[in-house]
Amino acid sequence: MRFNRSYEYYDRIAAVYDSMYQDEYWRSACEQTRRIVLRYVKNLHGLEVIDIGAGTGTWGLWFSQMGSYVTLVEPARNMLDIAKCKFGRSNLLQRVRGFFCTKIEDLENYQQYDIALLLGDVLSYVESPDLVVRKVAKLLKRHGLLFGTVDNYFSYLKDVIIYGTLDDLKRLQNLGKLPIGSEFGVFEARSFTEEELRKLLRLSGFYVAEITSLAVFPNAELNLKFGTHFNREAEHLLYVAVKE
Ligand SMILES: C[S@@+](CC[C@H](N)C(=O)[O-])C[C@H]1O[C@@H](n2cnc3c(N)ncnc32)[C@H](O)[C@@H]1O
Repeated sequence: MRFNRSYEYYDRIAAVYDSMYQDEYWRSACEQTRRIVLRYVKNLHGLEVIDIGAGTGTWGLWFSQMGSYVTLVEPARNMLDIAKCKFGRSNLLQRVRGFFCTKIEDLENYQQYDIALLLGDVLSYVESPDLVVRKVAKLLKRHGLLFGTVDNYFSYLKDVIIYGTLDDLKRLQNLGKLPIGSEFGVFEARSFTEEELRKLLRLSGFYVAEITSLAVFPNAELNLKFGTHFNREAEHLLYVAVKE
């Protein structure tokens, strides 16, 4: 089945989404991400965090466990319902400012945040990354931090050479896009090179603090030390940007 919107796909696979986090790659990715966040912000207590494309709440939950107040934005109702259940079970609902079942583009919320999250490749899955980055810039306080990941162009390129068609290759070269998914269906996603990502963030008023590879090694220490050397090989790029 082909989905026109990424969130329709995620709505469909919500019940199985968290099984992904059991595999070694994602465990390493989460450990690396947590360590990078804590490298930039030693104490998350009391900070206002907006988790965009919050999915089943993995990151919102972690930030709330670390003492932050979280706002979850997620257009796939089934994903957000799972997130709500997890917060209920963890007795952390008092740390939630709101669960918004909407696309970030349509969010009407004029609060300003210390931290914004686009983790889980959300920028690769939205219809207009430029518009979304500009919206995120508006939602952040001055010097607020953005943490996110995207699909890497060079990983798509490798996949298309091995498994794709000539049309896929042309579309990737022209637009950076490729159909991705699983046995449950496919949707079209957008990949980025490090340079494209850097430009996108800068043009929207961000200073790019770091772009590194996500989980190229199973060991978090190695990822933190050597990740930036593999930005043309990794499946995903992890970025940290500061609102100027
Ligand atoms: C791979 S999941 C990541 C979920 C979560 N952040 C995580 O890391 O586990 C990507 C999420 O982005 C959501 N999404 C897609 N388009 C969006 C949009 N325009 N605004 C907000 N979220 C969106 C999808 O519904 C999906 O839940």
